[in-house]
Amino acid sequence: MNKQRKFSIFRYNPNTPEIKPFMQEYVLEEVPGMTIFVALNKIREDLDPSLMFDFVCRAAICGSCAMVINGKPRLACKTLTSDLKGTITLMPLPVFRLIGDLSVDTGTWFRQLSLKTEAWIHSEKKFDPEAVEDRMDNRIALEIYEAERCIECGCCIAGCVTANIREDFLGAAGINRVARFMVDPRDERTPKQYFDVIGSDEGAFGCMGLMACDDNCPMQLPLQSQLAFVRRKMLAYGLWGK
Ligand code: SF4
Ligand code: SF4
Ligand code: FES
Repeated sequence: MNKQRKFSIFRYNPNTPEIKPFMQEYVLEEVPGMTIFVALNKIREDLDPSLMFDFVCRAAICGSCAMVINGKPRLACKTLTSDLKGTITLMPLPVFRLIGDLSVDTGTWFRQLSLKTEAWIHSEKKFDPEAVEDRMDNRIALEIYEAERCIECGCCIAGCVTANIREDFLGAAGINRVARFMVDPRDERTPKQYFDVIGSDEGAFGCMGLMACDDNCPMQLPLQSQLAFVRRKMLAYGLWGK
């Protein structure tokens, strides 16, 4: 006989503000290998078709199913109910605009992050479609690949003290994004140009360094070393102009 699991889920629809936010309880039978994603679909199919939450890939690739699960930002499709004790509490990620219940708009946030950090290769080099591709050092290619593994789930932002108190903070995801371009030899931005983007309290200097981001990243990105790397670069520019 499978165990019965109790879920306590945040409910609020900004389109019906007259209904105040509340926690709704559901009880489900836990089946082997059940993830929060599976549980939420079961609730929506069998108990409550009005429940709002996001998912696309079901495989920890798209980043859209992030939510606060028993107090920690996590991916619903990667979290087994059997790994959680007692009542399972689900809340939407803070910081991001609430669409409804557990669904938040991370897309707009990450788009403005890309625009603010100018997350594209800056080069004066003219594109020549006939030219042979430039070779890249394997070590650098791997560093870029590592930073690119970010799935924009928002877990690092939701768990970050600074991001929760200042809405212009770029967070670990933003600092990781900048680090990705700093190591890329094709990007011709100067230290000053990077300093203008990230050398303030909105960026590297707003970070309190408590590393919740590093703990919460479901992709285990090396956020701690990315933060240290960008800070060192920005301090060097701030102190010595290089
Ligand atoms: S270390 Fe910095 S970026 Fe990471 S959670 Fe703490 S304040 Fe936010
Ligand atoms: S750095 Fe990690 S936690 Fe932050 S958005 Fe990317 S994948 Fe998610
Ligand atoms: S559904 Fe894509 S990361 Fe969970």
